[in-house]
Amino acid sequence: MRGWIQVYSPATIGNIGPGFDVLGMAVKGLGDIVYARRRPSGIRIVEIRSPTPIPSDPAKNTAAIAAANVLRFLNVRGGLELRIHKGLPAGSGLGSSAASAAAGAFAANWLYGRQLSTEQLILAATQAEAEVSGGFFADNTAPALLGGATLTRCCVPLDVTRIGIIRRLKIILVTPAITVLTRDARKILPETVPMRAFVFNMANTALITAAFAKNDYSLFARSLNDVVIEPVRSKLIRGYDQVKESALKAGADGMAISGAGPSVFAITDNMAKARVIEQQMVLTFNSLGISSKSWITTVDPHGTRLLDDGGLQ
Ligand code: HSE
Repeated sequence: MRGWIQVYSPATIGNIGPGFDVLGMAVKGLGDIVYARRRPSGIRIVEIRSPTPIPSDPAKNTAAIAAANVLRFLNVRGGLELRIHKGLPAGSGLGSSAASAAAGAFAANWLYGRQLSTEQLILAATQAEAEVSGGFFADNTAPALLGGATLTRCCVPLDVTRIGIIRRLKIILVTPAITVLTRDARKILPETVPMRAFVFNMANTALITAAFAKNDYSLFARSLNDVVIEPVRSKLIRGYDQVKESALKAGADGMAISGAGPSVFAITDNMAKARVIEQQMVLTFNSLGISSKSWITTVDPHGTRLLDDGGLQ
C-alpha cells in the first residue's frame, strides 16, 4: 500500500525457564504486522485483524500506546494511522502485546526521522506493555525488537543486552486452549525464595546466557530447569505435568512455560524428533479434552523489521 509502511515483529518466549523477567528470545514464523502512515495529529487505529479480540481504543492498544510514547520521546508534532494484523493470539504467553508494541514503536520512529535507538524503542514498547499487563518487564519487548535471546539487567533505568542465538535449537511451541492472565500468573508467585532454589535458578539462568553467547545447544539443554516459577505456575496449565512427561518421553531435552503461559515449549536439536514431540504434546493435551495449536520453530535472529517502506524511501 503506497504511503503505508509495513513493520513485522516476532513472537517471543519470555521468560526462558529459570530466567524469570530476565531472559527472553524471539521466535521465527509467528508475529504481528503493523501498517502505519503519518497523519497530522493523534493516533488512530483504522483496522484490526486478529485471531482474538484486542482493544481498538488507542489508549488501550499496545501498538498505539507505544507509537504515542515514541512521538512523545521524539517531541514531534504529528500522528499516525495504524492497521494492525495480528498473527499472534492475545493472552497466549507468546509475547502478543509486546509484538504489537514493538511494531508500533518501530513504525512511529521510522516515519518520524529514525532518531531513537533500539533501547529507546524497547522502553517505549515496555511502558506500553506495562499499561496493559500490570508489570514492568522487558523479557518480551527486548527480544521482539533486538531478535535472538536477550537479558534484562534492570528496567528502571532500562538496561538490556542481546546475547545471541543457538543455531541448532528447534523449539516446539504448543498453545493449549486454556486462559491464563499474566496478572494472575504474577500474583501467585512466592514473595521469598529459599537460598538453595535461588542458587539453582541463578546457576541455570547464567548457563542459559552462556549457551546463547556460545551458540551451544547442549549447554542450553542441560540448563532449562526452573525450581521457583514452574512448580507454581504449572498449576494454572491443566495437564502440564503429563504434557511435559510426554515431551521428554518423545525425546525432548527440556520443556518449560512460555512467558506466563498457557503456551509451553519443548526443545530438541533434531527436526524428526521435533515432529514426534509436537505430536505427543498435542495428543496429551487432547486426551485431557484440551485442544491446542502447535508450531515447530527456531530463534528469530532479526527482531522487529521493516517489510515495506510504502514507497517513502
Ligand atoms: N516475564 C513475564 C512473566 C512475561 O513471566 O510474568 C509475561 O509475558
